[in-house]
Amino acid sequence: MTDEDFIRRTFALARMGLGHNWPNPLVGSVIVKAGRVIGEGFHAKYGSDHAELSALKNCSESPEGATVYVNLEPCCHTNKQTPPCAQRLIKEKVKRVVICNLDPNPNVFGLGVELLKSHGIEVTHGILSSEGEKLNEVFFHAQRTKTPFVHLKMASTLDGKISTSSGESKWITQEVARAHVHELRGAHQAVMVGANTLRKDDPELNVRLQNYQGPVPYRIVFTQSGNLPSGAKLFNDALKEKTLVFTKTPLKLNIPSENIFVMQSLEEAMEILFEKKLINLFLEGGAQLAGEFIKKKLVNRVSLYLNPSFLGTGASTLGDIGVELLSERPRLQEVESSWKGEDLYLTGRLN
Ligand SMILES: NC(=O)c1ccc[n+]([C@@H]2O[C@H](COP(=O)([O-])OP(=O)(O)OC[C@H]3O[C@@H](n4cnc5c(N)ncnc54)[C@H](OP(=O)(O)O)[C@@H]3O)[C@@H](O)[C@H]2O)c1
Repeated sequence: MTDEDFIRRTFALARMGLGHNWPNPLVGSVIVKAGRVIGEGFHAKYGSDHAELSALKNCSESPEGATVYVNLEPCCHTNKQTPPCAQRLIKEKVKRVVICNLDPNPNVFGLGVELLKSHGIEVTHGILSSEGEKLNEVFFHAQRTKTPFVHLKMASTLDGKISTSSGESKWITQEVARAHVHELRGAHQAVMVGANTLRKDDPELNVRLQNYQGPVPYRIVFTQSGNLPSGAKLFNDALKEKTLVFTKTPLKLNIPSENIFVMQSLEEAMEILFEKKLINLFLEGGAQLAGEFIKKKLVNRVSLYLNPSFLGTGASTLGDIGVELLSERPRLQEVESSWKGEDLYLTGRLN
């Protein structure tokens, strides 16, 4: 087994924390001695043991002289809930540490590596770094920009339509794609919609998957007018405490008053959400709000479900995004595709 193989294993372990450890990164760790894995662990949830500590606790024998694989630089700062990992690795007398990505957090960046080296521990970093960046794209974006990561989802026919000219819209995509959307909701901290979607669809924006026991995302509504139906499900169901409203016009609803934010711009709303440690947001539309987010360069990933059918006239997936020249059009990078039943799923980075 190579360093790459063990780092790949840390990715698989790290993913086990998905959805539970925001705003922290996904981190896994493998401890290897004389060619044998003697311990594995991952960061399971916010405030719980970091991956290295979890792997050390699971060790079947002494980690002295072992190699520790971890996909993110071990932390070395003490102003946080859990004890620093680099100091712990030094105490356990491990021989070598192999890291995928350095931690962009300025309290750690390069310092964890330096601390380990200064205690005679051999350190290798940069193994499979672009795969590691992708695994933790949300965390890296939030650390570097101090704004939340926004993932826009759209579903349409091949000609980019989301409803007929008479307004019929349920359903454009089939069951497998819709179940996948629910999986994505569960992997985000909050689901966001514009007020028209609320007024027209009265959505629940919850995760409806069989036997789902994962985290429950916040539901966020954006309005300028403040004209929201007080009887909507989001303001009255069992999860109403998890509904947030961003409005330009003050209003009262049947949700805690601290859940209503008066803001001047979407940028300000993003700042507020970042302050609340909500860094991983799923934007479900509709077209107008999605267009505003794209125009303001606030979208970081786009996922599109394309049903192999046409509607001709009818509403489009996106409203105005402020593009006048072809050369100005936002373009997805690193696009990946797969089939979700009969629907084609495309996902790529933006900004
Ligand atoms: N196929 C899909 O993937 C999909 C996904 C979601 C929705 N939809 C469909 O899309 C339709 C609704 O789309 P839509 O384009 O008409 O409306 P929308 O984007 O859902 O909502 C537009 C409203 O959002 C608020 N808004 C927009 N920009 C804002 C900003 N910068 N700050 C604060 N609030 C802002 C305004 O609310 P106020 O008017 O209250 O000021 C605006 O009228 C529905 O029929 C729904 O079924 C389809």
